[in-house]
Amino acid sequence: MAQSTIYSRVLGTGSYLPANRVTNQDLADRLAEHGVETSDEWIVARTGIHARHFAAPDQTTSDLALAASLRAIEAADIDPQSIDLIVVATSTPDFVFPSTACLLQNKLQIKNNGAAFDVQAVCSGFAYALATVDALIRSGQHRTALVVGAETFSRILDFDDRTTCVLFGDGAGAVILSASEEPGVLASALHADGSHADILCVPGHVNGGAVAGNAFLHMDGQAVFKLAVHVLEKVAVEALEKAHLSPDQVDWLIPHQANIRIMTSTCRKLRLPLERMVVTVGEHGNTSAASIPLALDLAVRDGRIKRGQTVLIEGVGGGFTWGASVIRY
Ligand code: UT7
Repeated sequence: MAQSTIYSRVLGTGSYLPANRVTNQDLADRLAEHGVETSDEWIVARTGIHARHFAAPDQTTSDLALAASLRAIEAADIDPQSIDLIVVATSTPDFVFPSTACLLQNKLQIKNNGAAFDVQAVCSGFAYALATVDALIRSGQHRTALVVGAETFSRILDFDDRTTCVLFGDGAGAVILSASEEPGVLASALHADGSHADILCVPGHVNGGAVAGNAFLHMDGQAVFKLAVHVLEKVAVEALEKAHLSPDQVDWLIPHQANIRIMTSTCRKLRLPLERMVVTVGEHGNTSAASIPLALDLAVRDGRIKRGQTVLIEGVGGGFTWGASVIRY
C-alpha cells in the first residue's frame, strides 16, 4: 500500500505586543534629550514606521513568547502536552543558555520531555525555524510543534545611534504546526552568506563575567538594503518553483517587516498587487524574527487569510541569512 505524504499544517496562530507603544514623536523627544536629532517625517519617509512597542523592564523574550504561544495554543485548540517540539527563533534570548525554547517549555508547564531549542538567524529566524520544523515533522520525528519568533531588540539598541534605534521594536508571534495528510508547508528555501557578517551584527560577547566588545546592534543600512532587495526576490521565486507554483498563485505575501521600501520592491518584482501584501511595519517597526508570525497572526485573525489560501513568507537578516516558505494555509 502506498504511504501517504505527511505535511506540517498550521493549526493555529497567536501573537503578542508589549503594552508600551512608542510613536516616532515619543522617540524623537526621548532622543532630543541627549542631543540626538530625528523626526517623525524622516522615519516615515525612509521606513514606513510610525510606532513600535517596547517591552517593560521586567519583561523578557520568553515572557513575550509565552503570551503569543498561549494564544496560538488556544486558536489551535490543542492540549499543550501534545506539543513534542518547541523552536524559538530569537537573537535576543533571555540568557546565553539555556535556550529560550527550554524556558518557554517550562513556562507552558509542558512535561512530556519533547525537544526544545532556539534558532539564531536574526531577521530570517522565523523562516529558518519554520523550514526546520517542517523537515522534522515531514520526517515523522515530531508530530506537533510550537514555532515562535520572539524578540526584545530594544535591549540591544544604542539610543545614541539614530541610524538604528528608530527602526526596531519588540514582540512575539507563534504558530502551531502539526503532522497532517492535508497540505500545509509546501516548500522552503534557506540561504546564508557569512562573508557579510559585519554589515548587521551585535559584535559583543561574554568573557570573564563581563560583556566584551560592543553589545549594541550595528548596521550598515545601505549595504543591508541592497543585499535584501537582491536576495528576497530570488529566494521567493526559488521556494515557489519548489512548490510548483507561480507568483500569481500567491494569495498573500508576508515579508519580513523591516522597511516598506524593501517590501514594496519585492512585491513589485514578483508582480503581485500591493493589496496582497500583509503590512505591519508601520505599527510594529522591525521586530526581527517576530515580524513574520506577528503579521501572519494579524491577517489570520482579521479574516484576510483563509483556509486553503497560499501564503508566501520571506525574510532576510544578519548573518547574512535569507529564506522563504510557501504555505497552504
Ligand atoms: O531586519 C534586517 C534587515 N534590515 C533592513 O532591511 C534595513 C535596511 N536598510 C534600511 O532600511 C535603510 O538603509 C535605512 C532605513 C536604515 C536608512 O535609510 P536610507 O535611505 O538608506 O538612509 P541613509 O542611511 O542613506 O541616510 C540618509 C541621511 C543621512 O544624512 P546625510 O549623510 O545624507 O546628511 C543620515 O545621517 O539620513 C540621516 N539619518 C537620519 N536622519 C534623521 C539617518 N538616520 C536618521 C534618523 N533621523 N533616524
